[in-house]
Amino acid sequence: MLAVNFQRSLLLICLYLTIKTTCSKDADSPHIILIVADDVGWNDVGFHGSNQIPTPNIDALAYNGIILNRFYTAPSCTPSRTALLTGQYPIRFGLQGIPITGGENQHLPVDVPTLPERLKELGYKTHLIGKWNLGAAFRNVTPNGRGFDGFFGYWSSYISYFDHEGRGSNMTGMDMHSDLEPAWDTYGQYATHLFTKAAEKVIQTHNASQPMFLMLSHLAGHSGKNGSELEVPDIEENDRMFGYIADVKRRRYAGIIHELDKSVGRVVEVLAEREMLDNSLVIIIADNGAQTVGNYGNSGSNWPLRGLKMTVHEGGVRNFAAAYSPLFEKPRQVNNELFFIADLLPTIYAAGGGNVEDLGPIDAINQWQLLTQNTRTKRSEALLHLDEVRFTAGYITDYGRYKLINGSSLFEDYDLYYGEDGRDNSSPPYDINAVMNSSAYVAIGTNISVDEMLQLRKEATLGNCRKPISPDNRCTYKNWCLYDLFEDPCETTNIAFTHPEVATRLGEELTKAWKYLKPQKPKFVDPRSNPIYNNNSWFTWLDD
Ligand SMILES: *[C@@H]1O[C@H](CO)[C@@H](O)[C@H](O)[C@H]1NC(C)=O
Ligand SMILES: *[C@@H]1O[C@H](CO)[C@@H](O)[C@H](O)[C@H]1NC(C)=O
Ligand SMILES: *[C@@H]1O[C@H](CO)[C@@H](O)[C@H](O)[C@H]1NC(C)=O
Ligand SMILES: *[C@@H]1O[C@H](CO)[C@@H](O)[C@H](O)[C@H]1NC(C)=O
Ligand SMILES: *[C@@H]1O[C@H](CO)[C@@H](O)[C@H](O)[C@H]1NC(C)=O
Ligand SMILES: *[C@@H]1O[C@H](CO)[C@@H](O)[C@H](O)[C@H]1NC(C)=O
Ligand SMILES: *[C@@H]1O[C@H](CO)[C@@H](O)[C@H](O)[C@H]1NC(C)=O
Repeated sequence: MLAVNFQRSLLLICLYLTIKTTCSKDADSPHIILIVADDVGWNDVGFHGSNQIPTPNIDALAYNGIILNRFYTAPSCTPSRTALLTGQYPIRFGLQGIPITGGENQHLPVDVPTLPERLKELGYKTHLIGKWNLGAAFRNVTPNGRGFDGFFGYWSSYISYFDHEGRGSNMTGMDMHSDLEPAWDTYGQYATHLFTKAAEKVIQTHNASQPMFLMLSHLAGHSGKNGSELEVPDIEENDRMFGYIADVKRRRYAGIIHELDKSVGRVVEVLAEREMLDNSLVIIIADNGAQTVGNYGNSGSNWPLRGLKMTVHEGGVRNFAAAYSPLFEKPRQVNNELFFIADLLPTIYAAGGGNVEDLGPIDAINQWQLLTQNTRTKRSEALLHLDEVRFTAGYITDYGRYKLINGSSLFEDYDLYYGEDGRDNSSPPYDINAVMNSSAYVAIGTNISVDEMLQLRKEATLGNCRKPISPDNRCTYKNWCLYDLFEDPCETTNIAFTHPEVATRLGEELTKAWKYLKPQKPKFVDPRSNPIYNNNSWFTWLDD
């Protein structure tokens, strides 16, 4: 009897495994390509209405897919990427603070499954190219330990574009790694080119009988060497191409974005060459707003939005995003529904054929239907940020309408308006021919008309809603701000006093979030991590 039962259970387990394996090895699951841009502003892509920096490939992808025009993130890299890869709010893990720097023993909790780990359960082959920024003290917390079959890139928050130098406190070292090994052979080569070549290779050598997940997490447009230089492949050529941009820093930034755009075009082109594009989902997002000025300033522009990276004003958290897939049933739309970066985890999992109930309780919402059918959002509210050390919090409710800010930013001077509008006569007019001539457009093989693209661009563009901000309009933790973002996307008018009942309601929601906040660990850069102990390259210093 016991034996029979045992055999039956075994049979059931095998059956279950067989079904799971069959489902998971399903070659029909789409290839998923997630492109993440670093510190790139709302106004730094052509489809949002600026003529200053042409992004024909990104625009082509956006027009032929869904433009996510109310896509929110956390205000900086580590919290945003934590939300993206876990589907959870970063306050659950104490990762809500300033991004992890080299030599800090901080990482994603090892018992919380990551997006690539989930996708591997569905049979995906997984790759990370570019930035990680979620911990590197131990091998098992690096990308290779957290679900990526292959990794080429850097562990820290940024590197220089040519010599790939990463920093932590007063220490510096080479941070370009091929899986766990320092990639010295790439020294001196422009990072965006390296990442694009690595992506090409992944796609070209991918065994098409298996679905592929490729996260291409660019350094562009973060500032480079010394946290301040804006490095381009060829300064003279760059200054010729973008000579019409008077501000030299912004001119160099344009070159960085130009390389990013070319990379997007090349990736889409290679997907088409390998006949994988027909069954792909390509998503492109920024991890947070541009850091126009200040520390790591890159001269990016969040125009017309208020604030910068590190703030919970719109410029820090409302970011450009678009998704393209031939699987979408109602593409070529601007979707103005609330979408939070964490939602990409269940959305991608569902796209890959997973049952989102298997994910257990998470903070993220499956928005796959929003992408395929251009439907309303299922998300009514989002905790954008809660930093108990620096007294900064942002909570959004009513499907994106109201935002409460309790203590605005780390640096008060990040709270105003910055960045160029790119709409005056100094820039050449928008070149729709360049969009139609872009690698992405040609690879997609689209028949979208010029009028349709220009109409989408118009719909995706915010008008100039800025008004002078009086100093008493600054948000502090003693002086909450409430904005009606549908009426006032530029956050010009604090309505906390005229709408006290709404402010109170949002305050209560925010108070609930404090209950599951895990306090941050104090910032500490471990001197034992010093790259001088490892031939001047960063290493997983707590392993041995
Ligand atoms: C780096 O900083 C540590 C303390 O933070 C100090 O002990 C060390 O001397 C510094 N090293 C250099 C090269 O400045
Ligand atoms: C691709 O994967 C399939 C199934 O695992 C295998 O049979 C085939 O040999 C692989 N092809 C190559 C070129 O590796
Ligand atoms: C490094 O950057 C700081 C600003 O962050 C700047 O003051 C300093 O001059 C720069 N140093 C070099 C060598 O470029
Ligand atoms: C607002 O911020 C202050 C300072 O961090 C905090 O004491 C207070 O509890 C916060 N209120 C809410 C509703 O989060
Ligand atoms: C398209 O690009 C090619 C080469 O990149 C160029 O020769 C051609 O003039 C372009 N066509 C248009 C319409 O811009
Ligand atoms: C354009 O392509 C779409 C799908 O790719 C198709 O549904 C539509 O009929 C085409 N329109 C024209 C005018 O060819
Ligand atoms: C040490 O670093 C140099 C570059 O500075 C590199 O050429 C060499 O291969 C490295 N040695 C080892 C053992 O990694």
